[in-house]
Amino acid sequence: MKSDRRQFIRELLHWGIATSALGASFSPAILAQTIKQTPITKAIPASGELLPVIGMGTSRTFDIGADAAMLAQLAQVLNAFLDNGGSLIDSSPMYGSAEETVGYLTSNLKTEQKIFTATKVWTSGHQEGIDQMQASMRKMRVDRFDLMQIHNLVDWQTHLKTLNAWKAEGKIRYTGITTSHGRDHDELAGILRKHKFDFVQLSYNIEDRAVERQLLPLAQDRGIAVLVNRPFQRGGLFGSTRGKPLPSWAAEIGCRSWGQFFLKYAVSHPAVTCAIPATSKVHHMLDNMGANFGGLPDSKMRSEMEAYFQQV
Ligand SMILES: NC(=O)c1ccc[n+]([C@@H]2O[C@H](COP(=O)([O-])OP(=O)(O)OC[C@H]3O[C@@H](n4cnc5c(N)ncnc54)[C@H](OP(=O)(O)O)[C@@H]3O)[C@@H](O)[C@H]2O)c1
Repeated sequence: MKSDRRQFIRELLHWGIATSALGASFSPAILAQTIKQTPITKAIPASGELLPVIGMGTSRTFDIGADAAMLAQLAQVLNAFLDNGGSLIDSSPMYGSAEETVGYLTSNLKTEQKIFTATKVWTSGHQEGIDQMQASMRKMRVDRFDLMQIHNLVDWQTHLKTLNAWKAEGKIRYTGITTSHGRDHDELAGILRKHKFDFVQLSYNIEDRAVERQLLPLAQDRGIAVLVNRPFQRGGLFGSTRGKPLPSWAAEIGCRSWGQFFLKYAVSHPAVTCAIPATSKVHHMLDNMGANFGGLPDSKMRSEMEAYFQQV
């Protein structure tokens, strides 16, 4: 344990991180939080395995290159996530250095909690897909992925064969496919009707509810787990609610902030398994992880949330 920590310090110093920053990344105020409650979980339909409803995205936020100060900051972000019952981390080769940042931090931080690693294949061609997924394994420092997703349907016919073969070989545990912000919904629905996937990832939030029409009911019918990307509309939801009060009844569903309000809305849809908000800030991560605990709104409360949001 001690030598692991020394090795981690050496690696951080190699990246140019000052020991004061390292001290901050292990700050008891952030890190010594114990999980006082049990996270809200939902079952992956394909297996029954339980996932905490709040995961973590890495687009833009973890694409930091060799920025040492940001690496120290993201060490704190990751700790805040894991210390509050987080498990699923979503990345992609599309996100610059994000996979490397995740691999570096997760392989060095000590946690007893299991991390559910998810990334994507985002290229065309059989061998190109294999090469990219193998590179992702090296970057994220894992010898198998929990979830491998086909990013934005790119060459999905080719990669689906590889994903199924890799699943049979135990290199990945679950298969998935992704889209975002309304793109390719009809084509994706056609694919999900004909082919077996364990997960689908799509954009869903209180402002962008297009997937309620087709994709969410389909996922529910077909027993496909749903990951929600852009639960904050890429941060845009905070623009419309800045300075506006939460409804008095938000406390009934354990929401103390707009971030928690938006996340609880997204994950309370019966088809949704887990939302993957992204942040580069510790206080935002702590805020977001508040939605990992307490109750969830029922359908009546969800309607009230929609009505309240529309008039703010
Ligand atoms: N096609 C695909 O497969 C696809 C497409 C889009 C996204 N994704 C995945 O989904 C993840 C999430 O989507 P996203 O990153 O586009 O958007 P998002 O999670 O809806 O929004 C992220 C933005 O919200 C801000 N934020 C986070 N928590 C906050 C809080 N508590 N209070 C105020 N602001 C907060 C972040 O800024 P700060 O850093 O300042 O906190 C960031 O600018 C991505 O990272 C990626 O992993 C996948």
